[in-house]
Amino acid sequence: MPLKKIAVLVSGRGSNLQTIIDNIEKGNINGKIEIVISSKKNSYALERAANHNIEGMYIGKKNYPDIDKRNNKIIEILQERKIDLIILAGYMSILSEKLVKLYRNRIINIHPSLIPSFCGKGFYGFKVHEAVLEYGVKLTGATVHFVDEGTDTGPVILQKAVNVDSDDTVDTLSKKVLKIEHELLPLGVKMFCEDKLQVKGRKVRISID
Ligand code: GAR
Repeated sequence: MPLKKIAVLVSGRGSNLQTIIDNIEKGNINGKIEIVISSKKNSYALERAANHNIEGMYIGKKNYPDIDKRNNKIIEILQERKIDLIILAGYMSILSEKLVKLYRNRIINIHPSLIPSFCGKGFYGFKVHEAVLEYGVKLTGATVHFVDEGTDTGPVILQKAVNVDSDDTVDTLSKKVLKIEHELLPLGVKMFCEDKLQVKGRKVRISID
């Protein structure tokens, strides 16, 4: 099976990008990262890409203030490199409908809660964990899903829960959730790259051989 050509879109720290890089280097994922695109200019994620000789690029509000031009530039880069899979690894920007339609069921996002709880507009990064603690739920977790035109509304691929303990803080909870993000995202990407994910409506079927 040919290696899947992967683009990773990032905005910050890039720890999820790092798990994908590490799993590819270990031979766990049948793919190659062709490009890392960051919506922030000097993100640590871009440094991580450079450390592994992966091409990195800044496409953000400063160099492409117009949202359509920005997304069209991203599409141009993806098409030039014949990308099979786009991974949103802590990408804090909105993708255009045009891009989502062009890459239907080929964009995977990682979200730090159990969707459909604590997701959608305004729920990103630490804000998710703040909301979880404020609500007082006893479980939270991480979700890997395909991206559709909505915010965090696409078909769910994988989920895993963690307990919210009474002494948890945003810091401890985010660490617990991040640990499972680093298990789930590479697993979902591995499955995609082995053609094991079939989407029917909202349901994702995982084939096991
Ligand atoms: C991760 O926790 C990811 O789930 C979250 O941002 C963090 C990025 O960390 N994404 C969202 O909140 C998307 N709605 P990283 O840059 O270290 O991978």
